[in-house]
Parts: sequence; C-alpha cells; structure tokens
Amino acid sequence: MRKPLIAGNWKMNKTLAEGVRLVQDLSYLVEDVEDVDIVVCPPFTILKGISTLIEYDKPNIKLGAQNMHWEQEGAYTGEISPLMLKDLNVEFVILGHSERRRYFFETDEIINRKVKAAFKFKISPILCLGESLEEREAGKTFEVVQNQLFKALEGVSQEEVKHLIIAYEPVWAIGTGKSAFPEDANDTIRHIRALIGSKFTPEIAKNQLVLYGGSVTPENIAEFMVEPDIDGALVGGASLDAVSFSRIIKFRG
Ligand code: PGA
Repeated sequence: MRKPLIAGNWKMNKTLAEGVRLVQDLSYLVEDVEDVDIVVCPPFTILKGISTLIEYDKPNIKLGAQNMHWEQEGAYTGEISPLMLKDLNVEFVILGHSERRRYFFETDEIINRKVKAAFKFKISPILCLGESLEEREAGKTFEVVQNQLFKALEGVSQEEVKHLIIAYEPVWAIGTGKSAFPEDANDTIRHIRALIGSKFTPEIAKNQLVLYGGSVTPENIAEFMVEPDIDGALVGGASLDAVSFSRIIKFRG
C-alpha cells in the first residue's frame, strides 16, 4: 500500500519567524495524523531554523528543500549542495519544478544530474513533470511527461528509483486557481506509473508515489485523493497558511 504524502512548497515566501510560527501551528493541528506523510519545503535561508525546530519538537513533519546543485562543493557562487542539505537533515528535494525550468532555464539534462546527486546523498527527489497549456491543447501531454520522466531518470538504478517521488503538475494549473480535472490528472498519473513499470519493474511501478500539484486547496483535495493513482499532493499557495494546509492533510475529514 502506498502511504499518501502531502508536501508544501513555500516557494520564495516566509521569514524565519513566519516559518517557525507556521510549523508550530501546523504541528499542533496535525499532531494526530499518522496515515499521511507530511513534508514542508521552506526556502534555503530558513532550512536550518526549521530543521532545529523539527529536531527538538519532533512533530510528524519532515523537511524538504526546493532545489539544489548537483555537485557536493566547489566554485558555484550562490548555489547550495546536496551535502549542505544532508547536513541539515533534509530528507526531500523538489527538482524540475516548472518555475525552475521556465525562469531559470533548467534543462532535462541539469535535472537529471540533480536527481542522480540526490540519490547519491540519500535525499528523496520530488521530481516535477507537467505540460504547458499549449502542449495540452496540442494533445501532447503524455509525450511531454514521458520525455521529462525518462530524461530525468537516465542512469538511475532500480535500487535508487525506489526513493523517488513524482509530482505531476500541469504548468497551466500552478498558481492559477485552475486545477486539473481529477480524472484527467489520474489518467496522466496512471500513464506515468505505466512508464515507470516499463523502464523498471511492475513492482516498482506499483509502489511508486505520484502526487498531483496545481491549485490544490482544502476544497478540492478530496476529489483528487479518491482517484486510485493519485497518492498525495504538492501544494504551493495553500501550504502557506497552517489551517488551510492542515485541512488538506486531513483530507479524509
Ligand atoms: P500552487 O503551486 O498550489 O500554488 O498552484 C503548486 C506548486 O507549484 O507546486
């Protein structure tokens, strides 16, 4: 059985005081939740603060980062390495987010290097895939996600891929308030799972966590979670408020 996972992508939001407050409020609201894995992905500047809070308070909340470089160290001004994240007990890292692809020109090749580096440092990548509106209207959704998936996983072993998390995030649904239809998202996610099966094994495909992302809210989360192939959500805007994020985590009501 795949255990649902709900991750909050804070993007470029929250000072240290705001982030600490959010995690404290959230941990109180979700303290009885055992059947969902909960991850928060704050910006780099406050990872240390949130990591310390998690270390002392031991809430049922895990820590993720939003990006990283593929090298462990070196002359890469402004970058953060997997070793540095590991040092802060970061367990997850979002890779290939459409905002990184679009605004920071991350290619599939760069994402592939980062994915391999994450596995090397035993950090679970949350690999984002998704088509643009133009690609969707041209009927290319399956082709686009297949390309992104296979390129990102080039050279990844069967052992490593067991620690992979995939987030299907149609670009047109991110931050727009226009979420996908749950059945459509499920179709694409079923396809992604089949692709994992063809590249690796049916057993790996069966255990593969695939999340949906794009304008998830407390109001629509349940409709996604009833779909058989959707294992959770990557949440942006609605994860910035403890009450709204906790309602998403408690999607069963
Ligand atoms: P959103 O962002 O929930 O604000 O649409 C999702 C994401 O970018 O991961």
